[in-house]
Amino acid sequence: MCGIVGLVGQANAAEHVLEGLKRLEYRGYDSAGIATLDHGRIHLHRKRGKLQGLVDLLREQPLPGSIAIGHTRWATHGRPSDENAHPHRVDDIVLVHNGIIENYLELRSELTALGRKFESETDTEIIAHLIATTPAKSLVERVRATLLRVQGAYAIAVLSPSEPDTIVVAKNASPLVLGISETLGIVASDIPALLPYTRTVKILEEGELAVIRPGSIVITKLDGAPVERAARVIDWSPVMAEKGGHKHFMHKEVFEQPRSVVDTLRGRLSARGDDVELPDTVVDMVARASRVMITACGTSYHAGLVGRLAIEELARLSCEVELASELRYRHPLMGPETLTLAVSQSGETADTLAALKEARHSQSPVLSIVNVLDSSIARDSNQVLYTHAGPEIGVASTKAFITQVIAFYLLAIGAGRRRGLSEARARELVRGLRELPLTIEEILHQEPRIIEIAASLKAARSALYLGRGYGYPVALEGALKLKEISYIHAEGYAAGEMKHGPIALIEPSVPVVVIATQGPLYDKVIGNVQEVRAREGKVIAVVTQGDRRIREMADHVIEVPAVDPIFTPIVATVPLQLLAYHVADQRGTDIDQPRNLAKSVTVE
Ligand code: M6R
Repeated sequence: MCGIVGLVGQANAAEHVLEGLKRLEYRGYDSAGIATLDHGRIHLHRKRGKLQGLVDLLREQPLPGSIAIGHTRWATHGRPSDENAHPHRVDDIVLVHNGIIENYLELRSELTALGRKFESETDTEIIAHLIATTPAKSLVERVRATLLRVQGAYAIAVLSPSEPDTIVVAKNASPLVLGISETLGIVASDIPALLPYTRTVKILEEGELAVIRPGSIVITKLDGAPVERAARVIDWSPVMAEKGGHKHFMHKEVFEQPRSVVDTLRGRLSARGDDVELPDTVVDMVARASRVMITACGTSYHAGLVGRLAIEELARLSCEVELASELRYRHPLMGPETLTLAVSQSGETADTLAALKEARHSQSPVLSIVNVLDSSIARDSNQVLYTHAGPEIGVASTKAFITQVIAFYLLAIGAGRRRGLSEARARELVRGLRELPLTIEEILHQEPRIIEIAASLKAARSALYLGRGYGYPVALEGALKLKEISYIHAEGYAAGEMKHGPIALIEPSVPVVVIATQGPLYDKVIGNVQEVRAREGKVIAVVTQGDRRIREMADHVIEVPAVDPIFTPIVATVPLQLLAYHVADQRGTDIDQPRNLAKSVTVE
């Protein structure tokens, strides 16, 4: 995710901002830049790639001045490049931005009509143009007037030679933290960058601006109303600060999921919020295909299994899912009539990339669902639907899975509408999608209960996960999470298959995790739970809030809010991520970097 650092009131401000950016490196980024003001001039360096490029540039050509803003960019609009890196400079304005501007195409056309020329592919440059063309007395008034026209998520920091000791910052749905100091003005998107200067901070809230000068911070609302904000003292260790106060990146990423879902949906629902709005080029590919072949590895494959069910149900389109490592060596009957849908968080997984190349070789058009912008899989596809989950650092995939599943729902509803899905059903589903971030929040509040259940699982040597329908991919994903981070052997199975083999494993020492939420197959799952109980198996069930039947049969239940059964993979996976996390934590394993695993599997 992008990082912002700004500092005013210290000589060589660029060096300090660079140190701050280094403290945000863990968040992931693909380019970086710094701007300073000195003697009425803007000085600027931007560089694609790791911070070392910027370090080298600054060594050769130092940026003078005691005021600076800097940025690490994780590409969303426009590929990673020097031109797309921040800060963006337009006339007397230089600015950095985190977030996504939703109405940027509309604003860009308006600015183009005024004869404005753009140097980058970013949505950020639009904000710089708008501020630059806004006539007002002070910098803060220009920023304020601009932001009234901007829709979307942003955290920005702006400099102008017209006010050489001022940084104006503003935020909406992207974090900004103001450091309290007697001599400096300092701001960052994340606490670690502030810790060398201060541990006393004020958090900027939604729709607020701040004017930062050496030793002074003035916070107001967008409409200019003054804001009083109490300061907070941060007692985190530097390591904790890097992880936003969480013990592990995986934990942080699990808790980021409500925000990630909002980011995946952003700009993809109609203004009234009752329909899906994806680019025609993307929806057409699905809607016009005769069949779909989904391919991926690991967790992304599990998201693909959910995708198949959703596409079949809503778009009534024949759909297969194949592990990329298998598909690449098969001789599948695929041609222009088959849409290949590749799914990958990293966009660099060697097997998925190879399967995609095979598909293209067979003339099959390729659409990919990818998190990392401009990655190899994204570049090799005909169309891409980005998940916008932000960087995932923990090796165990969590928010990437949830956002891939959301992307599949969007595709299935979008294509479904062209293939007979009723407007009413689409509206109902979109309403359900919009409620998911809050639903996930509610599930995350159950963490204390899940910690207790984890204690009962931590000594197990083997565990079984069972689910049917939309619960089956959840069983696979729940088992994968447990095995990869806790090293407990775990199998995910279609519950109906139990009596064809795995039932032989059932005994009191093998816990059985069952996805038993309400839905068309609920009674069938109850039957499976009874089969487990009859063999003295221990049952941990994920159930819909208020369920009484399973409570009587299970040893432990985790309740999740009632949702449309199609959204089971979201509500049932989140508690299983937390369950795996806490079992692993109680066993003391290396959760973020489990043994033998790599985040991005770029070799076969
Ligand atoms: O980057 P990708 O989504 O292509 O990665 C695929 C798998 O390697 C990945 O999901 C892996 O299974 C994770 N460790 C699961 O948590």
